Amino acid sequence: MDDESLLRWSLRERLTKEGYDVLEAGTAAEAYDQLRGDIDLVLLDFKLPDGNGIDILRRVKEQSADVLVILMTAFSTVENAVEAMKLGAYHYVNKPFNLDEVVILVEKALETSQLRREVRALRTSQGREFGLDSIVGTSPTMQQVKSLLARIAASPASTVLLTGETGTGKDLAAKAVHYNSDRAAKPFVNITASALPEQLLESELFGHERGAFTDARQQKRGLFETADGGTVFLDEIGEMTPGLQAKLLRFLEEKTFKRVGGLADIRVDVRVVAATNRNLEEEVKEGRFREDLFYRLQVMPVTLPPLRERRGDVPLLASFFIDRFNREFRKRVRGLSPSAQALLEGYQWPGNIRELRNAIERAMLLIDRDRLEPEDFTTLTRTVNPTQFKLPAEGVNLEEVERQLLLQALERAGGNQTQAAQLLGINRDQVRYRIEKFGLSKA
Ligand SMILES: Nc1ncnc2c1ncn2[C@@H]1O[C@H](COP(=O)(O)OP(=O)(O)O)[C@@H](O)[C@H]1O
Ligand SMILES: [Mg+2]
Repeated sequence: MDDESLLRWSLRERLTKEGYDVLEAGTAAEAYDQLRGDIDLVLLDFKLPDGNGIDILRRVKEQSADVLVILMTAFSTVENAVEAMKLGAYHYVNKPFNLDEVVILVEKALETSQLRREVRALRTSQGREFGLDSIVGTSPTMQQVKSLLARIAASPASTVLLTGETGTGKDLAAKAVHYNSDRAAKPFVNITASALPEQLLESELFGHERGAFTDARQQKRGLFETADGGTVFLDEIGEMTPGLQAKLLRFLEEKTFKRVGGLADIRVDVRVVAATNRNLEEEVKEGRFREDLFYRLQVMPVTLPPLRERRGDVPLLASFFIDRFNREFRKRVRGLSPSAQALLEGYQWPGNIRELRNAIERAMLLIDRDRLEPEDFTTLTRTVNPTQFKLPAEGVNLEEVERQLLLQALERAGGNQTQAAQLLGINRDQVRYRIEKFGLSKA
């Protein structure tokens, strides 16, 4: 046995005793034969009879970036080590080495890889949750939005501007872009521009050096650094102060930034997704938002339509949320009654999908019937035009108003009680009850 095989033998003995499954290869060719999907870690000699460790390292990493490689070298030159680390080696050890040292290193490395795998599994499961399919809607505008988001996700780094009223799904769209892109396994971080004062927001975004300001006792990495390789979601970008707008613009143009109190330019690769419920064009005209930043963001604009402009999606969204809350509350609600559906379709939804979700959640918490009726949505007041329904100076007889409205609804519905009920936002039983009450059944 030569030195090399003796070394391999003692490593194998020791690692097997520690409970690891060990494969052995004496040459590069043997190593290639044994590379399989379930290898967690490779202990690699730098000098092999038929090749060098760097080539094998490169090949291993090509096959699976998750495999950890520890390089063993007798004559550790700095260049080799640097190159190995660049190619993704986990560590290197100098020969001759102490077996205990190697065992500890292997243990630590495998802990890291276990952790990495858990993080990745978590991210892919979130990917499923936040995929484009999680954006419900078949109206033409939503189909356009979804295909636009899919194209953006597939393009490597383009900046995105999401606009839309509150509750239209901007957060959801930002996540869909991230989790459908090849950045999915990297971080998605989000921050709301209006949530923090300028100085804090700047240090959250860009980090700070020790001593940059009174409370900066430690150096801190910002979100742009944390998110390297991933996506930064900047919500409520319209509220950003002019100073920060300038810094963001610089980052978007040069991909570099400085930490607060720092001199060095730091370069990261992140996609910025910005969102606002303001009309940025107006903000620019009013001088509150930088025009150059606006145009820089405007490269890929996506507008999420308000729900009232795609009422056709209401039933689909409603049943999506009913399914979700059935699971969450262990209920068996089958759906909306026709009059409840009419009520929801006719409503203005100033809070958009968030308001719809909340309305269904509230309704489902309380009921034990298997259909949702209009009276389960009492908090949704139909928007009433106060000039049309103006209380006259002398007052009214409310019963008479009710009777008149019932008559009008029945007349417009051609006597169809279900349709009349829809017009009034109540159910058919309630229409019948009133017909009886007002003695209209003969009419
Ligand atoms: N198209 C959609 N399909 C399913 N759920 C949606 C959709 N759009 C929004 N939601 C849900 O509505 C709520 C509000 O959406 P969010 O993305 O936070 O809106 P915004 O950020 O525009 O205020 C969230 O619970 C979100 O999951
Ligand atoms: Mg939001």
